[in-house]
Amino acid sequence: MIGYNSIQVSEQKMSASNFIQFKQVSRWFESASGRFDALKNIDLHIEQGKHVAIVGKSGSGKSTLLNMLTGIDHPSQGTVRINSTDVHTLNESSLAGWRGKNVGIVFQFFQLIPTLTIAENILLAMDFVNVIPGRERTNRAGALLAQVGILQHANKLPAALSGGEQQRAAIARALANDPPILVADEPTGNLDSNTTDIILNLFSELVKTGKTVIVVTHEKVSTTEYDRIITLKDGAIIDDTSRNGSQP
Ligand SMILES: Nc1ncnc2c1ncn2[C@@H]1O[C@H](COP(=O)(O)OP(=O)(O)O)[C@@H](O)[C@H]1O
Ligand SMILES: [Mg+2]
Repeated sequence: MIGYNSIQVSEQKMSASNFIQFKQVSRWFESASGRFDALKNIDLHIEQGKHVAIVGKSGSGKSTLLNMLTGIDHPSQGTVRINSTDVHTLNESSLAGWRGKNVGIVFQFFQLIPTLTIAENILLAMDFVNVIPGRERTNRAGALLAQVGILQHANKLPAALSGGEQQRAAIARALANDPPILVADEPTGNLDSNTTDIILNLFSELVKTGKTVIVVTHEKVSTTEYDRIITLKDGAIIDDTSRNGSQP
C-alpha cells in the first residue's frame, strides 16, 4: 500500500471572467451526403472557478464542444482561447503538453489502463506531463486517492473495482497534475444513482478548491448544484442560465 502525508490543494486565483473564451466556433464534418454542422458559431465565455453543466439531447454537440475545449478536436472556424493560450493554434505535440498541465479529462467509461494498478495509472499521468517533482509523485497519488475516497484500492487493478470506484480513480488521475480545469463527458452515464451522487459531490468539492469544472450530463441539473447551465440544441446554445438568473 502506498502511503501519503498531506496534499497541497492549490487555491487557484479567481481572476479572469474570460478564462475560457470561444469566439464564433463552428465545427462541421464533411461526408458524401454533404456538410454536417455539429457546432454553429458558438460564442461562449466561462469564468474561472465555476461549476458548469452542459446539457442537451444526444447529438446536440456536447462532446464536440468539450473536444474544442480540450483540444482533442479543432474548430473548422473560430477561436478557442483558454487562460491566454490560443488552443486552436497548437499543434499535436504542444497540445499534449498544454492539456496535461491545464485540463483534466474524465470520460464515461473511465479509460483507466487495465494492466496498471490504480496508483500506477495516476503516476503514469504525472510521469507523462512531468510537472510534479518525481519525489512527490507517490505521495501525491496517495493523497489524490484519499481525496476521492479510494486509497484502499491503490494497489489493485481497475477490473477489481466497481464502476463508481473506477470513476473516482479516473477523477484522481485527471487531477494528477493539478490542472485548473476539469472536464467530464457524461461521467455518471454508466453509474447507478447513489454512485452518481458521490461523483457529482466530488466535482462540487473540487469547485470549492478553485477548479473550473465543466460537466456534460444527462442527469437532472439545477442551479442549486451548478453555477451555470448551458443547453445545446442542434449545435447551438439555446439556453444559458446562471445561478443568479442572469444570461451571461
Ligand atoms: N467525427 C465525426 N464525424 C461526423 N460526424 C460527427 C463526428 N463527431 C460528431 N459528429 C456528429 O455531430 C453531432 C454532435 O455530436 P456530439 O458532439 O457527439 O453530440 P452529443 O455529445 O451531444 O451527443 C452528431 O450528429 C454526431 O453524429
Ligand atoms: Mg456526447
